[in-house]
Amino acid sequence: MENQTNGMGLSRLGLGCGRMSNATGDADRKESIATIHAALDAGISFINTADFYSSGHNEMLIGEALKGYRREQAYISVKFGGLLAPNGSMYGLDVRPLTVKNYLTYTLKRLNLDYIDLYQPARIDLSIPVEETIGAISDMVKAGYVRHIGLTQVGAETLRKAQAIHPIAMVESEYSLFNRKIEQDILPTARELGIGVVAFGTLAHGLLGGNWSKNKVDVNNTRIPLYFKENIDSNLSLVEALSEIAIEKQVTVSQLALAWMLSKGEDIMPQIGARRVNQLQESMKSLEVKLSDHDIKRIEEAIPEHAIAGGSFPEIHFKNGVIPR
Ligand SMILES: NC(=O)c1ccc[n+]([C@@H]2O[C@H](COP(=O)([O-])OP(=O)(O)OC[C@H]3O[C@@H](n4cnc5c(N)ncnc54)[C@H](OP(=O)(O)O)[C@@H]3O)[C@@H](O)[C@H]2O)c1
Repeated sequence: MENQTNGMGLSRLGLGCGRMSNATGDADRKESIATIHAALDAGISFINTADFYSSGHNEMLIGEALKGYRREQAYISVKFGGLLAPNGSMYGLDVRPLTVKNYLTYTLKRLNLDYIDLYQPARIDLSIPVEETIGAISDMVKAGYVRHIGLTQVGAETLRKAQAIHPIAMVESEYSLFNRKIEQDILPTARELGIGVVAFGTLAHGLLGGNWSKNKVDVNNTRIPLYFKENIDSNLSLVEALSEIAIEKQVTVSQLALAWMLSKGEDIMPQIGARRVNQLQESMKSLEVKLSDHDIKRIEEAIPEHAIAGGSFPEIHFKNGVIPR
């Protein structure tokens, strides 16, 4: 499969860098930078971060990686607006139009860039019309500091309202075999409006990593996301059914899961949540996996939506900057 996607000249897969920074800073700085370089070398252009990923640490890491290294090839996507306490916990959201320019100024400094490619509010605030937030980012596009505007984890109606103010290049949504909700309304709406889709949580935040078996699973294992831990047995049975197909196809579960998503359309860019070169390389092999319609049906039947136990990534709503009680 060609490493190209969605009419924007971007790579078929993107790199999500959030996990390269942890609450205290580096996960592994040298390996993280090597992973970003390996991604760019392999033709991956889309590099995803947020100003609140480890309080700016993630942006500084990317800035360091891009210093003198293929900046023109990279397509840098930044989310803004998450409010962090000194201990790293998120306590609110600020997407007021007045503050957009300020957040962008600090982001450009940390990334050591004079423009970013995609700027998007981390979430919307129910007390602020999305048109106002998008209008403020649109001013930054006109001023040359931002190339394109995106949105993340929004509904179809919000997408339409935003698009009426300024063309929305991409919508970033959770999408995996363990969460296919976007197929109901976001995906068709994005397609109707000509907006690309960036998927995150493509390996169900580790559940589809597939490198462990049900018998050996340790619920304290950090690779199992918190939101699946309570229902781990039933969800692992589904992963096991998927692993039988993976064995037949001589690929890993993660490669099969990514190949399934790639089969859903060239306007969908799965993000790889890799923080090591070997993970990146393993995930990129999904581009070579060929799936027939029959394979796709079997994969979806192995993880039927009605059998998925528990929620995935928390869907948080903000009003006046906080989560309403
Ligand atoms: N827009 C949003 O609201 C939003 C929300 C969340 C995340 N994101 C973005 O999406 C990115 C990825 O999200 P995520 O990390 O939550 O989900 P993910 O990509 O579904 O899962 C990451 C997990 O998969 C494992 N993994 C990575 N590559 C693998 C491979 N080749 N084989 C087996 N396992 C592999 C990692 O293992 P290890 O633990 O061993 O590294 C980690 O546990 C983030 O970095 C961030 O940039 C966006």
